[in-house]
Amino acid sequence: MPSFAWPGYHRRMLKKPVLTAVVALLCLAAAAACGRTADEAAAPAAAPIQERDIHSFAQPEIARVTHVALDLQADFTAKVLSGRATLSVERAPGATEIVLDTRDLTIEGVTAPDGAALPFMLGDADPVLGRPLTVQLPSGVDRIVVAYRTSPSAAALQWLGPSQTAGGALPYLYSQGQAILTRTWIPTQDSPGIRQTYEARVTVPRELRAVMSAEQLTPDGVEGPGGRTFEFRLTQPVPPYLIAIAVGDIAFRSLGPRTGVYTEPSMLDAAAHEFADLEKMVTVAEDLLGPYRWGRYDLLVLPPSFPFGGMENPRLTFATPTILAGDRSLVSLVAHELAHSWSGNLVTNATWRDFWLNEGMTSYVELRLMEALYGPERAAMLKVLARRGLEEEIVRLGGPTAKDTVLHVDLAGRDPDEGMTGIPYDKGAAFLELLEQTFGRERFDAYLRSYFDRYAFMPITTPRFHDDLRTHLLAGDEALDEKLKLEEWLYAPGLPDNAPMPQSDAFERVEQHVRAFADGAPASSIDAGDWTTQEWQHFLGSLPEQMTAAQVADLDRTFGLTKRGNSEVLFAWLRIAVRHRYQPAMATLERFLTSQGRRKFLRPLYEDLMKTEWGQAEAKRIYETARPMYHSVATTTLDPIVRGG
Ligand code: BES
Ligand code: ZN
Repeated sequence: MPSFAWPGYHRRMLKKPVLTAVVALLCLAAAAACGRTADEAAAPAAAPIQERDIHSFAQPEIARVTHVALDLQADFTAKVLSGRATLSVERAPGATEIVLDTRDLTIEGVTAPDGAALPFMLGDADPVLGRPLTVQLPSGVDRIVVAYRTSPSAAALQWLGPSQTAGGALPYLYSQGQAILTRTWIPTQDSPGIRQTYEARVTVPRELRAVMSAEQLTPDGVEGPGGRTFEFRLTQPVPPYLIAIAVGDIAFRSLGPRTGVYTEPSMLDAAAHEFADLEKMVTVAEDLLGPYRWGRYDLLVLPPSFPFGGMENPRLTFATPTILAGDRSLVSLVAHELAHSWSGNLVTNATWRDFWLNEGMTSYVELRLMEALYGPERAAMLKVLARRGLEEEIVRLGGPTAKDTVLHVDLAGRDPDEGMTGIPYDKGAAFLELLEQTFGRERFDAYLRSYFDRYAFMPITTPRFHDDLRTHLLAGDEALDEKLKLEEWLYAPGLPDNAPMPQSDAFERVEQHVRAFADGAPASSIDAGDWTTQEWQHFLGSLPEQMTAAQVADLDRTFGLTKRGNSEVLFAWLRIAVRHRYQPAMATLERFLTSQGRRKFLRPLYEDLMKTEWGQAEAKRIYETARPMYHSVATTTLDPIVRGG
């Protein structure tokens, strides 16, 4: 039960004229923040009011946060961030309270900037959404100061001991905000439609360095009695899931005038070599999408427990070290995160059911960047791999009528993480590819650039995107809307029959070898000398479900698959090894599961293991050793698979 209540202002008491005034006010604020005129901003915002975000307690139409100023101390012993968040607030006339999102936070007090205490109330806890924090706003107060501390088990934060880092000597902390985890370390309105600028002062142990998804005002920090203090600011308004921090023994190497890479010192050479093309990537992206609006673009290569391949934190993409292949063969992940600087960070899914507008658009752009940088054959291979993955994902989700295969996915009553399947990525990208093929690159690219301009620094919903397509790409052609099956693409399950079918000549040659091998030819007859990572992925993914033990051993003996260092190739091989209980790969499997925490690799391997009795024993044993290393994002997915429940 709420701890206490007071007579106050309630949403249902809002009169309509007030609502209209608030919507106008929010649009003006957004326009001012991104340097656009009110007229420009009013155009898209005039359409139906933004869909409600069911994953946030905020009531932005009453009062909304526009700026977050953090002053935090990192305590690595207690695994706690503590300090203050000063929130700038805009409110509707007559509004007397603001609702924030929190989860697992200890709220020590709320005051006005002059120190006067403000009454607040923490509502009931929801296991997924956390607790609403409602603060009373006396008239004239436009900033509130929340004093708080995080919990050692805050879901967004992973506190690593020295042994979990490359250097082995110093601890590490990093955050992961998407989708709704920022509320576990910042008490703010944690909704992707509520953009906020931010600044931060962060004090850390003096031998560590802090970086954030923001401009660094004090790159080397300033020594003080409590440690070393770093200051940051981000002047572009962003959804709170993009506020991110990392603290550790972090070094930097410049890669170009506005690009560079951060990582632990022992990883710096490898990272700089892998991402040598970074500056060029940004330039190529600008040619396709319009100006890069965030200033610098740097990468942070994290310790191996990072649960994702990459996370598009503004100005500073967070990335897994498992893409350090040595041969730059996995840099499509960087193209993907960079593309989010437009699709996602500039134009943002309004709610998590519109997630495909972030990820599908980004996956489409990723492939365009890969084509521009490395040629059409590389892009074609990636498209075929994506298509294969999509077909498998539809099966995993229950087949072509399964609800979770809808782009505009229904997440009512669920953790938004449940919508984060392959569908928004690969079905979304296929849809955009269909549009590209229908209208041609010249028109479609012009449309894309205009889309990013029209909605810059704004949220976008699926229905509004559909409207925008009708107006600006289909130019009102109703028949074309029908013919392209736009409704079916956006709102129906499965893959529409007009989905483009990608094709790769290189992969067709690989498939010939697969057929011959399946028919009994020895591995030595396969001409794989110059295969790329993608060809290996396709080869391993195309082999028959069931092979003989001799065939599996022949593959390993001939191609040294168990010894591969490339994480994607090793992953594809280990899945085969598990399926066939191929004993010589089991030590490597265990090492792979205990040395990195990327959910995309962990989930399928644990799922495969759990299908057999011997595998279950192995999975449980390995999981209990590895679990302390994994991020909560990974254990939340894996606990039900391995531990049951
Ligand atoms: N934004 C996502 C990561 C994410 C998704 C975090 C959902 C939290 C919830 C990021 O851009 C992403 O898609 N990463 C992919 C890599 C990409 C190349 C498909 C990943 O981590 O595997
Ligand atoms: Zn993404």
